[in-house]
This record gives sequence, C-alpha cells and structure tokens, in this order.
Amino acid sequence: MGDIGTDIDFAAQCLNSNQVVGIPTETVYGLAGNALSIEAISKIYEVKDRPSFDPLIAHVPSLASLHTFVKEVPEKAMALADEFWPGPLTMLFEKNERIPDLLTSGSPKVAIRIPDHPMTLALLKALDFPLAAPSANPFGYVSPTSAKHVQDQLGDKVPYILNGGSASVGIESTIVSIQKEKTIIHRLGGLPIEAIEKVVGPVKLELNQSSNPVAPGMIKSHYAPHKKVIIGDIEQLIEEYRGEKIAVLSYKDQYPIEHNCVLSKRGSLIEAASHLFQALRQLDALNIDVILTEFFPDEGLGRAVNDRLARAAAK
Ligand code: TXA
Ligand code: MG
Repeated sequence: MGDIGTDIDFAAQCLNSNQVVGIPTETVYGLAGNALSIEAISKIYEVKDRPSFDPLIAHVPSLASLHTFVKEVPEKAMALADEFWPGPLTMLFEKNERIPDLLTSGSPKVAIRIPDHPMTLALLKALDFPLAAPSANPFGYVSPTSAKHVQDQLGDKVPYILNGGSASVGIESTIVSIQKEKTIIHRLGGLPIEAIEKVVGPVKLELNQSSNPVAPGMIKSHYAPHKKVIIGDIEQLIEEYRGEKIAVLSYKDQYPIEHNCVLSKRGSLIEAASHLFQALRQLDALNIDVILTEFFPDEGLGRAVNDRLARAAAK
C-alpha cells in the first residue's frame, strides 16, 4: 500500500529509480515519473490505465529548465510564463530531442508547466529531470485533490504519495498554445481566460471534444463519477426525479433534501472550483442513483467548472 507522507527525499529516491509517486500541486494531485525515462512514462500509462494517445504534461522547476526542452518560447508564451508561473497554466511548445515521443504521444509539441506547490517545487529542484504527471486518478474518473484521494484509488500501485494538503485551486491547469501569434485555449482550467486575455489580448477556444482528440483530456466523457450526473434546473430536476435516490450538487443555494453539497454559500466561483472534485467524490460514494446539478455562472473559473460538469454528465 502506498504510504502517505512528507518525505521529499524518499519521493526523490523512488523517482530516481524509475518508480511513480503521487505528488501535490495547486491544481490536482499528479501521478509523477521521470519525464525523460521510457520506463517511468510507461509505468504512468499502466498505473492510470490510460490510452497512449493521451499525452502527458511535463513539470519543470524553472524557466531555465523549460528552455532546455523546447525549440523556442514565443513572445506571448514568455509573457504568460512571467505573469502566471508557477501556477495553473500549461503551455504547448515545439519539443526538442530530449523529450521522448512517448511523453507527447508522437506529437512534435510538448505540454509544460511550473506547478505552484512548495513541496513539489522542492522535489523538482532536487531531481535532474522534469516530472511527467497526469492527474493521479484512474483514466476517466474525477481528479484527486488530496493525498487520500490518490491512496483510495491508486494506493496499491504506487510506493509513495507526497502529502501537500488539499489542492488550493482544485481544478486542472488551463492548457494554452501560441500559434502564429494567436493564443489558443485547448482546455479550460484553473487559470481563467479573462486573466490570460489581460496579458495577451483575445484568445481563441479550440476545445477538442472528439474521442480521438488532439488535446485528449478533452474526451467528451471524462472527469466522470460512477453515478449518473444530470444538469439542469435543480428545483425542476428534484420534482422529476422524485422517487429515485438523489443527491444535489449546487452552486450557492441549499435545497430541502437529505444529500445536498453546496459548493460556495457566498457565491465564490474560486471557492466552488476548489471544492468541486471533492464534492463529486463524496456524492459518488453515497447510496444514491443520480446526482442532480446545475450550470454555474459562465465566467472566470465557472467556465472550467461547467466544462467538467458537462463531461461528468456525458456518460
Ligand atoms: O493541472 C494539471 O494540468 C494536472 C497537474 C497534475 O499538473 N495534470 C493534468 O494532466 O491534468 P492530465 O494528464 O490529466 O491532462 C493532460 C492533458 C492531456 O489530456 C491533453 O489534453 C493535454 O494535457 N496535453 C498534454 N500534452 C499534450 C500535447 N503534447 N499536445 C496536446 N495536448 C496535450
Ligand atoms: Mg486527467
């Protein structure tokens, strides 16, 4: 059983011998391995039961490190890095030959970010390779926002999980690329579009939704609990599903039913995003048939929340 602890040296030791380890980040917990090692990358795919057409994000400790893995850093990418790294932003770059094709599923581009978590930054600085880290959940399920979530699902497959507390952002990074000076958003995430636009101007959304995607975290049914998820007007849905065992996941309003998770009573989208995955897991574990929920305000982090809810409901 993978122990949970705060021993960064031990985590580094595991990673140096090509094992995979659970690591905290500000977005969600990652399942980390040496991003330059075919053996470690293969282990990540195996432990996650993830199809190999879905590429992994490389986590680096610094801009200096970034430059050693990519052909160039476009001006706008540099501006975004200066403003938001370390933070919940992943960017796609033309990779150089140091990055194995297996990491990128054969794509000439590699996804890279500097995560904003003191433990993981310390770990990255102690290693002489970047960390490949997808979210530490079985493929298709809700991402983990605590060390316990990782242990619950992958505990028997990893030697160690670094415990860095609850993920502060709670939703995966926003994925961006710069193509011919244009800023393209490939995945909505923990960095709101509005913040990105303040730095680089208007962006274009290219959220891939097919089952053979270019940016595959974008597979339509993903981030999904086992229970059925229905999105709509909660009051009406409660009427409609009377007679079934229901739970409600709401933004700020409380409903008069037994199982109701309210994500932010004060109506903060930041708070709501940080509680979303924990709440989905909690409701999923109840003796219920269906989770009724609603779309959140479509602004700031509400967009990423709505994206995850839509995918959770797409089964
Ligand atoms: O917040 C996060 O990004 C978390 C933490 C652990 O850093 N990681 C994460 O990884 O969400 P994952 O594997 O669950 O999602 C990675 C997604 C892929 O599904 C794909 O959409 C995109 O990143 N991606 C990675 N490499 C890519 C590439 N070379 N080209 C296009 N998309 C890529
Ligand atoms: Mg994931």
